[in-house]
This record gives sequence, structure tokens and C-alpha cells, in this order.
Amino acid sequence: MLNKDSVSLEGKVALVTGGGAGIGRAIAQAYGALGARVAVAEISAEKVSALREELADAGVDALVSQTDVRDSAQVADFLAEVDKRYARLDILVNNVGDHLGMVKTLEQMSEEEWDQVYQINLRHLFVVTKAALPLMRRSGEGGSIINVSSIEGFRANPYNVIYTCCKHAVTGFTRTMALELANDNIRVNTIAPETTDSEQVPLEYLLKPGHAGELLGKPAYLTRTLPSNRFGRPDDHAGAAVFLATELSSWVNGSTINVDGGGLAAAGFQRIPSGPWTIIPEVTGTGVQGVD
Ligand SMILES: NC(=O)c1ccc[n+]([C@@H]2O[C@H](COP(=O)([O-])OP(=O)(O)OC[C@H]3O[C@@H](n4cnc5c(N)ncnc54)[C@H](O)[C@@H]3O)[C@@H](O)[C@H]2O)c1
Repeated sequence: MLNKDSVSLEGKVALVTGGGAGIGRAIAQAYGALGARVAVAEISAEKVSALREELADAGVDALVSQTDVRDSAQVADFLAEVDKRYARLDILVNNVGDHLGMVKTLEQMSEEEWDQVYQINLRHLFVVTKAALPLMRRSGEGGSIINVSSIEGFRANPYNVIYTCCKHAVTGFTRTMALELANDNIRVNTIAPETTDSEQVPLEYLLKPGHAGELLGKPAYLTRTLPSNRFGRPDDHAGAAVFLATELSSWVNGSTINVDGGGLAAAGFQRIPSGPWTIIPEVTGTGVQGVD
């Protein structure tokens, strides 16, 4: 029977990549608050220092290292440090990912740009997971791998086709690894965020005030396509990451949780100013061919 200990991570060791900001940081903080010892691979020296201080202030036993997850030698060194310090690994969160601000058609994109987006969104899942598995297997108690994808893994995202390809590929990685690791009792799942306020997506700066007016008393960009009427917060994803790391999700494997305020459910539907949803938005007249 489930009880309050079902969300406890006491005795567990979690590794979060890109834990210095945004979604990764919220996950590292949440895991620490629930009793886990937390290892973080973060590329920015400044963020490494800030997170070290933050986790120490919160009383979390943490190992925060300046590591570029695209570099297999750095990843191997970091895993060796985690092994030396904790001698086990129960939870791996492959969180690093970045659209790199690319807004280009396929024809405008260079081969170098294609490779850069691939490196930061897909290749490191292979590098980090491969390096982490021997330590994850060590305890013989199984574990949980959580990949952070995107809602763009389930729909088109024009003007960054390689980002969209990589996020779609995370689903294949997740499903395949769930089978390959089944005999080790290591579950593999994905979180797919919709637009979430973070360093990479700083909504306060990105959004034009007053854009597209108001709908239902809020900025229309929140209410027109998102049933939950707001963008995401890093903690929304931390909640899903806690679920996927604990026994609450013990029978969830090879799955994706869309943490998206209902955005994917809405798909092509949009709200009209009076509130109802339509699949034929923004048209004058009836929206039906041949009928004015
Ligand atoms: N924020 C969103 O709207 C959104 C939407 C969909 C999916 N996502 C996905 O969620 C994940 C986290 O996004 P976020 O918005 O929190 O990002 P963020 O940029 O705010 O934070 C990412 C962190 O990763 C670190 N990092 C970057 N490259 C690294 C590397 N090579 N090695 C180690 N650390 C590295 C950064 O320094 C930063 O601290 C990504 O996979 C992203 O694609 C985010």
C-alpha cells in the first residue's frame, strides 16, 4: 500500500544533467528535498557554484560538477567521481537540451548547425546513459532513467527540423531502452514539456506585451491554445520527475508524460474570444469551403 514514504528518496542517489538552471535545477532541488543525494553535471562554472551553494544551504548532500555532457571523457570522469563519493546510482535524468535559438528552414541550415543541435539534444543521451549504466546496475535494486524531451517530440516545429527530429528520437530511445534494461529492473520514461519559463525560454523577455490581445481575461497566447491557461514552471516538471523516480510509477515503463497544460490535447484546436474551442480558428465567414 502506498504511504507518505512512497515519495521519499532517502538512500537514493540521483544524477541530473544540466541541473544549473530551469527544469534540471527544479528537479535537482526537488530530489534533494525528498532525501536523495544529488549529483549534477552542469557546463557553466557560474551555475555550478550557485547550485552548490543553494543545495548546501538546503542541507542536501550534493556533488555538483562542471561537466559538458557532450564530451564522453568528461562524462566518464564525472561518473568515476559519483562512484567514489556515493558508490551507487538509482536515478538518471537526461535533462540537457537546447533549441540553440535556431529559426531556419532546412535549406538555410548548415551541416555544422545540424550537428550542433543533434549533439546537445540527442547524442549525449547515448554518452551519459552508457557511462551511467554500470553504476546503476551495481546495487542490484534497479533504477529509473528519465529523459527530458519536448512536446515538439509529438508535433511539428517548423524552422528547427533537427531539434524536432531529436525530440522525436527521444521517444524511440526511451521505448528501446525500456526493453534493453528490463532485465536490470531499470525503468526508462520521458517527460515532454510544453513552453516553460526557464533561462532558455525566458518568457518575460521573449513575449511582446499585449501580443494578440486578451482572451478570457488573460493574454491570448496563454488561453488560446493551452487548456490550463498558463505556460509551464520548472516545478511542474519536477513533480513529474518525482513521480517517475519513485515507487509511485513502479509500473510505468517506456512511457512519456506530457507536462504541457493540455497543449498537445488541444492540438489544432483554439479558443475563440467567447470561450469555446474550434478547429477552424481565425477565419472570416464560416470557414467552410464554398460557403461565405
Ligand atoms: N523551457 C521550455 O520551454 C522547454 C520546452 C520543451 C522542452 N524543454 C527541454 O527541457 C530541458 C531543459 O530545458 P530548460 O528550458 O530548463 O533549459 P535551460 O537552458 O534553462 O537549462 C539547461 C541547463 O543545462 C546546462 N547545459 C547546457 N548544455 C550543457 C552541456 N553540454 N552539459 C551540461 N550542462 C549543460 C545549462 O547551462 C543550463 O544550466 C531541455 O531538454 C529542453 O529541450 C524545455
